[in-house]
Amino acid sequence: MKKDFITIRDFTGAELDEIFSLAAQLKAKRKTHEKLLKGKVLGLIFEKPSNRTRVSFEVGMFELGGNTVYLGSDEIRLGKREAVKDAARVLSRYLDCIVPRTFSHTRLLEIAQYSTVPVINGLTDLLHPCQAMSDIFTIKEKKGLKGITIAFIGDANNVLNSLLYGCSKAGIKINVASPKGYGPKEEILKDTGNAVKVFDSAKDAVRGADIVYTDVWTSMGQEKEYKKRLKRFKGFQINSDLLRLAKKDAMVMHCLPAHRGEEITDEVLDSRQSIVIDQAENRLHVQKAILTKLLK
Ligand code: CP
Ligand code: NVA
Repeated sequence: MKKDFITIRDFTGAELDEIFSLAAQLKAKRKTHEKLLKGKVLGLIFEKPSNRTRVSFEVGMFELGGNTVYLGSDEIRLGKREAVKDAARVLSRYLDCIVPRTFSHTRLLEIAQYSTVPVINGLTDLLHPCQAMSDIFTIKEKKGLKGITIAFIGDANNVLNSLLYGCSKAGIKINVASPKGYGPKEEILKDTGNAVKVFDSAKDAVRGADIVYTDVWTSMGQEKEYKKRLKRFKGFQINSDLLRLAKKDAMVMHCLPAHRGEEITDEVLDSRQSIVIDQAENRLHVQKAILTKLLK
């Protein structure tokens, strides 16, 4: 296993499987499992807001017998109050692991370069690997991974980028439909083999899919583009009409937070086909497994 968990691309399918089986064990024995990280302290350095990532890492460390320190955007003030490399080197003397959530992916790479303790990517503008790992774990639980096709409708953002790597490692097919100019980047597609099919139309991508997935059209940091994106993404909403084209037993996923009424309707998000809350819960179990694999 690598020192850091920065991108799924760095890991083999077998390593990902190890994480999934540990996550399943930890989930099954949530209240009784061993305190595998007793005495360890995790630092969360977040430049952006968070609900799921922060809380699941904090609760996860607690359940594993460890502790956490949360450092929000006004605390260390990376790159402003002090150089990233100084902060990373100093924090490595206090902490056993660091989870940064940054805007630029380069900043996260710099933290990892200078940190002597493991770094886990808590989301950057480019990637969100803990999310994609939990998503694949959720699909595995609900449907198994064999013969599965995901349809991802919307912005080719951090969540999709990590899902693309995850799908290619896990042997899942993924259809992606985005408006022109908002589709997957060539540099990512070239590393994902034939797992990915790109479509212009949401309808074509969803036809026959087992999982229908979306994320916000405007990610954190893109707020100035909100109005433009709202127009550009018209026709890429997951609503009941679109969902009817997927398999009858298709499930709906969203990393959350959702912008209800934009990329997804209330009706779909609250429907029986939606598994978004189970998906969010699994962040906890999968991240506990990642922490244990890196720190033990
Ligand atoms: N899905 C996710 O990462 O949620 P938060 O931004 O609330 O952490
Ligand atoms: N794409 C979203 C994901 C939030 C978990 C964002 O970056 O804002």
